[in-house]
Amino acid sequence: MTEASLPFNERYYPSIAKFSNGEIRKQESEKALKNPQEYWAEKAKAIDWYKPFSKALDDSNPPFYKWFPDGELNICYNAIDRHIKGPRKNKLAYIWEGEMGEVKTYTYYQLYREVNKLAKALKNLGVQKGDRVAVFLPVIPELPITLLATARIGGIHTVVFSGFSAEALADRVNDCGAKVLVTADGSFRRGKPVAIKDNADRAAPIMPNIEKVLVVKRTGQPVQMKEGRDIWYHEALANAGANVYVEPESMKSTDPLFILYTSGTTGKPKGVQHGIGGYLVWAYWTLKWAFNPTDEDIYWCVADIGWITGHTYNVYAPLSHGMTAFLFEGTPDYPGQDRWWQMIETHGVTILYGTPTAVRMFMKFGEALVLKHDLSSLRILGSVGEPINPEAWKWYYRVIGKERLPIIDTWWQTETGGFMISPASGIELTPLKPGSATLPLPSVNVDIFDEKGQSVPQGTKGVLVIKSPWPGMLQQIWKDPERFKQTYFGRWPGIYFSGDYAVRDPDGYFWLLGRSDEVLKVAGHRIGTVELESALVSHPAVSEAAVMGKEDAVKGEVPVAFVVLRSGFTPSDELRAELIKLVRTAIGPIATPDAVVFVNKMPKTRSGKIMRRLLKAVLTGAPLGDTSTIEDEGSIEDIKATYAELQKQIGSK
Ligand code: PRX
Repeated sequence: MTEASLPFNERYYPSIAKFSNGEIRKQESEKALKNPQEYWAEKAKAIDWYKPFSKALDDSNPPFYKWFPDGELNICYNAIDRHIKGPRKNKLAYIWEGEMGEVKTYTYYQLYREVNKLAKALKNLGVQKGDRVAVFLPVIPELPITLLATARIGGIHTVVFSGFSAEALADRVNDCGAKVLVTADGSFRRGKPVAIKDNADRAAPIMPNIEKVLVVKRTGQPVQMKEGRDIWYHEALANAGANVYVEPESMKSTDPLFILYTSGTTGKPKGVQHGIGGYLVWAYWTLKWAFNPTDEDIYWCVADIGWITGHTYNVYAPLSHGMTAFLFEGTPDYPGQDRWWQMIETHGVTILYGTPTAVRMFMKFGEALVLKHDLSSLRILGSVGEPINPEAWKWYYRVIGKERLPIIDTWWQTETGGFMISPASGIELTPLKPGSATLPLPSVNVDIFDEKGQSVPQGTKGVLVIKSPWPGMLQQIWKDPERFKQTYFGRWPGIYFSGDYAVRDPDGYFWLLGRSDEVLKVAGHRIGTVELESALVSHPAVSEAAVMGKEDAVKGEVPVAFVVLRSGFTPSDELRAELIKLVRTAIGPIATPDAVVFVNKMPKTRSGKIMRRLLKAVLTGAPLGDTSTIEDEGSIEDIKATYAELQKQIGSK
């Protein structure tokens, strides 16, 4: 926050923004909030509709808002078909680079051919409008192709990040009731093949709905193909026919497009459901506002398509603009720590949409590796997934951006469908401040509330809320409208609760301050502590578990587990390793605890709730604050002692 108190003219980044006072942006926002119907009816003209809508928004049953309710369209048509009718037919839609350095390209026309073949193959497997197709693939071209083919025939896709465990895959597939799964034999990681199909096979016996599994041959490693269920993707495509055409289904704007599971504070991950029309219009305009795309851009969003960022900004938004997007399968530091910079130079990337975790990692590697490469093709840098600390921001700006490129720090969530708070180079680039996502985009009616639901004054921390609907908002939680209402609109009716802390500075800029709830952001990945805790207590030795985030110089935060053992069990390094393994099996490597701390007793409130605030204080070494509600302060001393012991152990390794 120190940057916020600098004199205004010392905060100008980059120099081009010095001349902007934000007036154009302000006018656009006012227009959008004053008359959303008119504003969005006009904006939606950027999309091709099969059947025009008569009104932009039906808000008769909040919070179940309907965007462009009687309009009909097909998102795959908007992403591909409309371009092949014009000058972009032979323009590159995707440039893909694999882990091993191999490159594949797809023009819009080639993408059209592949998508049609797969659409036909999916139809041959019995996929019909409204059916769910689960996708468990690494970042290979078949991943966006599967999403587009599914959407073309009116299916609903649900992508499960390929690093998730068999159990996590099965949970998601069962919740949405998918009948087809598209996966791959494996993927390359650090130059070695890693298995993916194995996980799908382990999940298969507990996924009763799955009838057919399409398997992409990526690595060529041996896999078991189950007769009658498993089909090679390339064979299914060959059977579909080379030049097949599948008519895109005319879909209602409000039909679901995809379900994407994300973590919350209670229970299992929630199936966030996005619709077609509102989502596409939001994806299109937010990309335009933030990055101002041109036909010359080579745009690289580094996110895996297993997350929302990849869905919106690697598939639907760039393709609906007819952009050339770059996709990368692999590891950012393999075979060299300059892999990113080398690829940017090779492919002439112009827009790099990266993450704070990656920036911090590259800072550690040192700037000499960056300076080896010509990065002059870059014109814009982006950031997403977690707050970017001013130090990382400045390094990104200075070393990668050479003090001439704007940093577009985009705040948003799986639920919001697209950017919400962000600098807007496509409207007007206002001065930037290192660490602030700046201002809300048009139609985003944000505020910051205190516990009582009162708007807080400037400079006071509170929770970020959104007070009006926007086209990209989630429709509901899959098959659980009540949970949707409770989770997001339960605290203050009519007000969307984001779960993030924020503060507004004297210029009206927003500073995002991390989650206000029990959700962690580990290297930008969203993980609910509740999921780790339920994995841990499923072990016979564990009676209670509490997971907290601990600050980490690269990943932002990492999970630390406090565990109370059942009587008869004693702490040991073996048990610790077993518990860590258990979490990896239940969720996946991204959730691996950084440490497991055995404690004799959890600090509890009089009503029996675990005092997370105290555990957190123990972790950070911060003063404990008000301890009057603790039943037995002795247990904190226990925790402190055990933690000190653990730190010693870690230090000696
Ligand atoms: O805490 C915020 C953080 O990521 C959360 C949303 O995570 P997820 O649904 O996985 O979506 C990630 C990609 C949009 C938010 O509640 N977050 C995301 N972007 C930022 C951020 N925090 C601060 N600044 C950001 N730019």
